[in-house]
Amino acid sequence: MRKKIIAGNWKMNKTFQEADELVESIAQGLKELNLSNKEVVLCPPFLYAEMVSDYAEEYPFSVGVQNVSEYKRGAYTGEVSAEMIQSMDINYVIIGHSERRAYFHESDDMLAGKTDRALAYGLTPIFCCGEQLESRKDETHFEVVKAQVVDGLFHLDKDEIKHVVIAYEPVWAIGTGETASKEQAQEMHKFIRKLLAAKYNQEIADEITILYGGSVKPDNAIELFAEPDVDGGLIGGASLKADDFIAIVDAMKE
Ligand code: 13P
Repeated sequence: MRKKIIAGNWKMNKTFQEADELVESIAQGLKELNLSNKEVVLCPPFLYAEMVSDYAEEYPFSVGVQNVSEYKRGAYTGEVSAEMIQSMDINYVIIGHSERRAYFHESDDMLAGKTDRALAYGLTPIFCCGEQLESRKDETHFEVVKAQVVDGLFHLDKDEIKHVVIAYEPVWAIGTGETASKEQAQEMHKFIRKLLAAKYNQEIADEITILYGGSVKPDNAIELFAEPDVDGGLIGGASLKADDFIAIVDAMKE
């Protein structure tokens, strides 16, 4: 049975003290929940990853970061390598978030390289894909998402792809308060799983966790997570409030 995951992407938010308070509140809240067959992943800014990891030693969650360099090591000022991330006992890395694609011009080639680098060091990539509003309107959203998945991931072999988590995040639903309907989410997740089955095989497609992201809140999480191909969420704004995030984790049923 594939793993259910609720991941919080804190993006570029919180001072160190605020981040410390947030992780402590989330950690306390998680202790009260039944977390069998679901994993909680917190993805703070790099600077706070060690502090969050210290909590993760005592509380039931894993840690991820929001980016990784496609280069191995060396003279790449400002970059953070997969090797460094691995050496801090961090397990997940978000790759290809739409904000990085848009504001930092991350190309499909770069994202494929980052994915390779992450996998080479035993990190689990949370590989993001999702269409802009214009593609949804002109109904090219399936083509766009297919191209992102094919270009970013389909060079991987069967053993490698099994270690990837995919996050479908329609750009028009990120931070806008506008969520994809449960039908829209399910339709795209099913489409992605079919792509995986066609490229690899059904067994592998059935094992891969596909998360939904885009304005997930406590009041819409239950219906989104109840869809058969929605295996959890990548949560932005609501992951910055402990009560909301805990309620979203709780909304993911077995
Ligand atoms: P919001 O939940 O704030 O819409 O952000 C989603 C997201 O981008 C998570 O990576």
